[in-house]
Amino acid sequence: NQNITPYEAIGEKTLSRLVDSFYGKVQKHPLLFPIFPDDLTETARKQKQFLTQYLGGPQVYTEEHGHPMLRARHLPFPITPARANAWISCMKEAMKEVELEDELKDFLLHRLQLTAHHMVNTADVDN
Ligand code: HEM
Repeated sequence: NQNITPYEAIGEKTLSRLVDSFYGKVQKHPLLFPIFPDDLTETARKQKQFLTQYLGGPQVYTEEHGHPMLRARHLPFPITPARANAWISCMKEAMKEVELEDELKDFLLHRLQLTAHHMVNTADVDN
């Protein structure tokens, strides 16, 4: 169907499973867990809201939190190129785990890679 949004194509349930699987991996990633809260319940809830509207669904993130201003919201955290790659690799694994269909996977991954790159605010340190 050409007339449905990516959000409808993925579906609320799969999107929710994707986000939960993703944060399960973030929580274990050596480059990522140190900058995230220990309890990711609220983070996952906000990410579900954000991705819903990012994919053309209802504007539920903005309704509750205002304009996403994602880059500004990430400025308190040192986001290096290596962390952006780590974020994307966790997302790729989560996509595999929930068996997102290829076309949706490629579409979403491409957009997330651009967004992740845009979040980088700190240079890599070699140590
Ligand atoms: C929040 C890290 C990329 C969407 C956060 C938080 C951290 C973080 C540490 C705060 C968690 C909390 O306090 O609850 C990163 C890193 C990234 C990255 C290391 C690597 C590039 C992205 C991307 C997106 C995104 C690509 C969009 C798809 C969000 C959202 C929040 C968030 C929606 C919640 C903002 C809020 O508090 O309302 N991220 N992030 N992040 N991130 Fe990211």
